[in-house]
Amino acid sequence: MGEVSRKMTIPFARVPMAGNELKYIDEVLKSGWLTTASKARELEERFADYVHAPYACAVNSGTSALHLGLEALGVGPGDKVFLPSMTFTATAEVIRYLQADPVFLDVEYGSNLITPEILESAIRMHPDVRYLIVVHYGGQAAQMFSKDGKSITSLCKEHDIKILEDAAHAFPSKIEDKMVGSYGDATCFSFYANKTITTGEGGMLTTVDEEIFNRVRMMRLHGIDRDIWNRYTDNKPSWEYDVKAPGYKYNMPDINAAIGLAQIEKAEEFRRERQKVAEYYLKHLSSLQHVLDFPLIHVPFEHHSWHLFTVVLTQKAPVSRNQFIERMAEAGIGTSVHYKPLHRMTYYQRTYPLVAENLRNTEKTWNGNVSLPIFPFMKEEELEYICTNIKLILSL
Ligand SMILES: Cc1ncc(COP(=O)(O)O)c(C=O)c1O
Repeated sequence: MGEVSRKMTIPFARVPMAGNELKYIDEVLKSGWLTTASKARELEERFADYVHAPYACAVNSGTSALHLGLEALGVGPGDKVFLPSMTFTATAEVIRYLQADPVFLDVEYGSNLITPEILESAIRMHPDVRYLIVVHYGGQAAQMFSKDGKSITSLCKEHDIKILEDAAHAFPSKIEDKMVGSYGDATCFSFYANKTITTGEGGMLTTVDEEIFNRVRMMRLHGIDRDIWNRYTDNKPSWEYDVKAPGYKYNMPDINAAIGLAQIEKAEEFRRERQKVAEYYLKHLSSLQHVLDFPLIHVPFEHHSWHLFTVVLTQKAPVSRNQFIERMAEAGIGTSVHYKPLHRMTYYQRTYPLVAENLRNTEKTWNGNVSLPIFPFMKEEELEYICTNIKLILSL
């Protein structure tokens, strides 16, 4: 194992802000109205157009989109919801918000996706589960459709299971030539600071179902029966509104939407830039195949948003994952872990004791997973520096 020294500082994620962000924020500041209004609505329209969704609802985080989506699908106390253990805690906590219970599933090794085969065997073991959250891990869509044979959607239809898609990583992504967000009852995106496009904090829910849209739109703002900002922007005096349900305060302020409008203009450029980074890693680290497992990609590269580039250190690697991360940090390179699986987190471990044997691929991944820096406009010398250091750390 070679010694490393810091010659550069490369963060895990760097947010590109090179477009119209300041211009649109300035428009909001000068409008005299800082929370939700026309910019949020414009972002909804742009986003719906982009992913070919009939309806889109802007909210203040990916987590709130997931919460609203599950609520609108009808999840309630005592319901059970399938989801992968290999995800961020937000995917599971929203199930608990509604007093329902998570049923953790394994994922395919390499892609970290739930497959039709995994789902089919889970349905056999738990025939009472009526909901599924699919996570499009890293920006690669799971097999929602398939030209030949079983898909997640066809299995769910057959077994009367409603699907919510956690597409926090998956904008812009496609599956079988359909944009993620264009076909589902509830697809939830995140615009958190390190995501493929950002609003600082923010999220979006898309749906093909008008009823779900109306429910989500009402519940995101206190359960009030119409958009409250009309009260401030309408010419007609109209103060009156009704409360139909005890909703939430999940609306997206216009300042955040302004950033999103600038970011969405660059979404495809950002995606291409991320793809270039992934291609660089695949080419320049290929000699490390005995010590590193690379991501398993089932879709054309252009259909992948490339939010993450996660590798797994194999048992033959000369260092553990944690030592690897420490060495990379010594060299000035940021990395991250996606994820420590939820069944290993104190709360879920205590509340839903699980047999790790049923989550074999998840466990195998957890032994060595590490995500490498990937963001738009990484410089060639940064990529070279990262690969040189990885080779140094993993040299036997
Ligand atoms: C898979 C997944 N789901 C949900 C979320 C929650 O999104 P947000 O941070 O916008 O609430 C994240 C964010 O990191 C995520 O990675």
